[in-house]
Amino acid sequence: MNTPRKIAAGNWKMNGLRADLQEARNLAAAFPAASVDILLCPPATLVGAMAAALVGSAVRVGGQDCHQNVNGAHTGDISAAMLADAGAYHVILGHSERRADHGETSTLVAAKASAAHAAGLTAIICVGETEAQRDAGQTLDVVLEQLKTSVPDGADKANTIVAYEPVWAIGTGRTPTLDQIAEVHDALRAHLPDAGISLLYGGSVKPANAAEIFAIANVDGALVGGASLKASDFGAIVAAL
Ligand code: G3P
Repeated sequence: MNTPRKIAAGNWKMNGLRADLQEARNLAAAFPAASVDILLCPPATLVGAMAAALVGSAVRVGGQDCHQNVNGAHTGDISAAMLADAGAYHVILGHSERRADHGETSTLVAAKASAAHAAGLTAIICVGETEAQRDAGQTLDVVLEQLKTSVPDGADKANTIVAYEPVWAIGTGRTPTLDQIAEVHDALRAHLPDAGISLLYGGSVKPANAAEIFAIANVDGALVGGASLKASDFGAIVAAL
């Protein structure tokens, strides 16, 4: 069977203090035995504490970035092994905010993904076009090039997830049409190194639109930002999967 796993992943971005761990506990309590994979990626400061808070639950914890090197003189950076040591199972890589804010290239993202794999982490590799690229009719070219260059050798369904996040849909309340999401996911599926890799959609997913997005062929779940911060909202999205 090569059916991709269903995954609801939350990306807290630069949000969350220790008091917010209660949202993670509430989410775990709502899904004691989930039939889909549930994942929360808090800021690095909370990875260890959230993993400890969720021991024995169905909710797993991930990081939002890691360095491509195993260790060394990289002030402020975190290695994949450090994330794993803190209790993470996954790490988001190549998010458009890191590509834009930190100049991360697809080549660097692939190196980071290899480092994640070597540490036993599942890499969630993000791709997505800007609004200007979509308007110019370049969407498929852009995301397929990002896919080709960001996914390293050795990627398979056990160690890699791909998230399609149109940059213009992130945090804006705007989403592509269902047909536009389907077109990109179909193209990504056809070019994955392993057809069993899960494909997530990300960008303004909320309880009100989750079900219709999850009904699209080749959408195996979502990578959720703002609506993952509260257990009530994220729980409604998980329930729609
Ligand atoms: O990684 C998730 C993300 O970029 C989408 O954010 O707030 O639009 O759900 P949001």
